[in-house]
Amino acid sequence: MSESIYGLKRTHMCTELGVKNIGEKVTVMGWVHKRRDLGGLIFISLRDRTGLLQIVFSSERNQELFEKASTVRSEYVIAVVGVVAARAPEAVNPKLKTGEIEIVASELRILSKAETPPIYIEEDTDANEAVRLKYRYLDLRRPDMQRNLMLRHKIAKVTRDYFDANGFLEIETPMLTKSTPEGARDYLVPSRVHPGKFYALPQSPQLFKQLLMVSGFDRYFQIVKCFRDEDLRADRQPEFTQIDLEMSFVNVDDVLTINEGFIKKLFKEVLDIDIQTPFIRMPYQEAMDRFGTDKPDIRFGMELVDVSDLVKNCGFRVFTDAIAAGGSVRAINAKGCGAKFSRKEIDSLGEFVKTYKAKGMAWIVVEENGLRSSIAKFFSDEDIKAVLSRMGAEPGDLICFVADKNSVVYDSLGALRVELAKRLNLINKDEFRFLWVTEFPLLEYDEEEKRWVAKHHPFTSPMDEDIKYIDTDPGRMRAKAYDIVLNGVEIGGGSIRIHSQELQSKMFKLLGFTEEQAWERFGFLLEAFKYGTPPHGGMAYGLDRLVMLMAKRNSIRDVIAFPKVQNASCPMTNAPDFVDKRQLEELHIRATEE
Ligand code: AMO
Ligand code: AMP
Repeated sequence: MSESIYGLKRTHMCTELGVKNIGEKVTVMGWVHKRRDLGGLIFISLRDRTGLLQIVFSSERNQELFEKASTVRSEYVIAVVGVVAARAPEAVNPKLKTGEIEIVASELRILSKAETPPIYIEEDTDANEAVRLKYRYLDLRRPDMQRNLMLRHKIAKVTRDYFDANGFLEIETPMLTKSTPEGARDYLVPSRVHPGKFYALPQSPQLFKQLLMVSGFDRYFQIVKCFRDEDLRADRQPEFTQIDLEMSFVNVDDVLTINEGFIKKLFKEVLDIDIQTPFIRMPYQEAMDRFGTDKPDIRFGMELVDVSDLVKNCGFRVFTDAIAAGGSVRAINAKGCGAKFSRKEIDSLGEFVKTYKAKGMAWIVVEENGLRSSIAKFFSDEDIKAVLSRMGAEPGDLICFVADKNSVVYDSLGALRVELAKRLNLINKDEFRFLWVTEFPLLEYDEEEKRWVAKHHPFTSPMDEDIKYIDTDPGRMRAKAYDIVLNGVEIGGGSIRIHSQELQSKMFKLLGFTEEQAWERFGFLLEAFKYGTPPHGGMAYGLDRLVMLMAKRNSIRDVIAFPKVQNASCPMTNAPDFVDKRQLEELHIRATEE
């Protein structure tokens, strides 16, 4: 039987106690982390969210209490009354915050018993993730998970403080709403009252925050759940949290500056790290050319180099054909890898780039007295010399080439760059390197649907100097859009919005909506724009990703209390699940699966 807490009041959390409390009578409560029996002594290490505290029971002092302590097992919830005592010098544990003291118990109550848990409650478990998520409430007892969620709380708190101090109002927007196009599928909620009609859960508060600007709130922010039915990865969940914000009467620079201030304050207050501002602002095209990606990790070099002009007349058909077809030949210099890597290892890089649709990887190893290469025989000595000189090649280096259409060259070499950095241990895990990627293309051509789609979303404004191409060459327009990238992860993005009804209507038309369809879906926005709209813009962070990076974890699942697994289900609650027939009938729905 569990005992009652009656008459007891907790005086301290475990790690609030220290040398300063020696001699005090205290009452502590928590989980039994471990029990150790040493002849006439029993040590219990008591755990709460602050950490561990040692309790000692001695048979000499109190036989009855000692016997009771010997029945206590791991994860029992207990209350202990006792006196704080200094540990003997040889028993001091410098690894523990409370390592200099212990509690000499005078009373013990077992508030709740526990079965043996299916996972160990310990730092850095190697338990299978499916089991961890089925018993998530136990997984969350583990100290690293407790720290992650405490960190998340602190980040949210500093976020609120910062935006509040800068004149932003936190305003809630609806969860039951109409579809907002952010590029994923919607989660739908059937209406009972309106047979056949559905709400969509928001993919973001995009339209509502723009309407709040029309309403004159000037600066808005919200820490808000968003829902996207897309394929999951380590950094994607079907429901995730944004730090969402919007500002009136601003240009790109204003938005970036206020957000640099936010990051600076956040890292100082939460991690005590000084982040230098302003961040690098790198146009999209430059990011692609130098790093092969619009979210470059700039903690290490090994940048891509275009050698197309040097090899366009060489004797290697793979190269010349790719260039003739409008593609390019680019390379990276894997410094020192020529000397380090075996032939097998070089071949594995060739296999690696193939997973990014490259057809192969040509390579040159520079040696003290000559070259080793898969392709040198196709080149004149001058051509090789020119290529090696542009690559800054020195003896010991490995030059890796991919020839293809640009998108494949960027993807494969961009990924190879990161892969090599991992293999060569070039990444400093303690470094936080931010940058803004700006001047994104406004539109992308969807080959399958044979139409233009918005690269960011349809409400993003073109750059002033590019609006002139809207009718003649829309693909050439760049957007007033920006992403914030941290260590190779896109942690946020946003844009200055279109605030004129005519331009917005024109955008919808460009994206293939008829006038009618545009009004049917976004009429409320177009209508609102008729009544006086301030120029406005903003952005949204993926809070989960930001916390993940600040906590130095590899998956956002580690910083979300109750995440979903790969197939968007929850192993603990078993959601999603079948529902009663009657529930479906009320909702006017017939399921094709029973
Ligand atoms: P965007 O679609 O770029 O912009 O989303 C903003 C940020 O949200 C994070 N994110 C995700 N995190 C976890 N799981 C997901 N499935 C997921 N999808 C996105 C990313 C991303 O950078 N309304 C615009 C913002 C704006 O224009 O103001 C928007 O939602 O870190
Ligand atoms: P092959 O003549 O097909 O034996 O190819 C010679 C070398 O060129 C091999 O190392 C291939 O991996 C490499 N290669 C093949 N296709 C490409 C490509 N598109 N880009 C770069 N290298 C390639």
